[in-house]
Amino acid sequence: MPHPQDAAALPRPTEAELTVRLRAAGCVFAEDEARLLAGSGAAADALAGMVDQRIAGIPLEHILGWVDFCGLRLAVGPGVFVPRQRSAFLVECAAGLTAPGATVLDLCCGCGALGVALAHRVADLRLHASDISGAAVDLARRNLAALDVGLYTGDLFDPLPVALRGRIEMLLCNTPYVPTARVASLPPEAREHEPLISLDGGWDGLELQRRVARRAPEWLAPGGHVLFEVGEDQEQDCLRLLRDAGLRASSRSRGDIGATVVIGTAEG
Ligand SMILES: C[S@@+](CC[C@H](N)C(=O)[O-])C[C@H]1O[C@@H](n2cnc3c(N)ncnc32)[C@H](O)[C@@H]1O
Repeated sequence: MPHPQDAAALPRPTEAELTVRLRAAGCVFAEDEARLLAGSGAAADALAGMVDQRIAGIPLEHILGWVDFCGLRLAVGPGVFVPRQRSAFLVECAAGLTAPGATVLDLCCGCGALGVALAHRVADLRLHASDISGAAVDLARRNLAALDVGLYTGDLFDPLPVALRGRIEMLLCNTPYVPTARVASLPPEAREHEPLISLDGGWDGLELQRRVARRAPEWLAPGGHVLFEVGEDQEQDCLRLLRDAGLRASSRSRGDIGATVVIGTAEG
């Protein structure tokens, strides 16, 4: 039976040693990950456990408990989608279209990354956020704690207060958009450790966007916008589904980070 003090006496691996272990396990960004793990402040035995988890394929952000998104440190955790860096482009597009004091809904909010990042760029937003996952909404509550936010749990617009109808000036909407048949080829990190409901966008990846677009005209304020993130190969279909829903449609891309944002705008 090891003495409890034995664990505390374990030598703390150096960043260089962690890099070697992570690289050998196939981590593409071994150096960056080693720096973050070493900088976590965990004691030697806890750090060893974190490295084992990483080598077993658990997303780094779930192990650390946070992700850096748009320069903000946001809480993330098991069972909830980890915001992707490319989604910063959606925030950038939204910031250019949102006036101070606007009413904003972060629909399918996950941990609340898009809403909180936009609130750091545009002053005095009236922010609302919603997701079907209770675990996601709990994390969003933590990340949005410093802001006065309406938080709701349920399917798309269903849990929202009726008073929001026709008043949303900016609808941020990063729904799942991976076509069902492609989910199996996602990296195991995503496939095995993020909920299917946060990844699977239906047969063509656009089922959620289609449902949102159909109801958006009823919830958007005159001249209000809905912003979707999609894959490059989904851009034209997404533009079409917004037009079919009676919205003006346009799109923007940033090839260097593989980000495509499709924008629907209500008449107004
Ligand atoms: C791709 S993740 C994006 C999360 C967050 N917007 C972000 O960018 O980090 C999609 C999110 O949609 C939520 N979701 C899936 N189906 C939903 C539905 N029918 N109604 C509301 N939220 C849904 C999932 O729980 C997940 O949090």
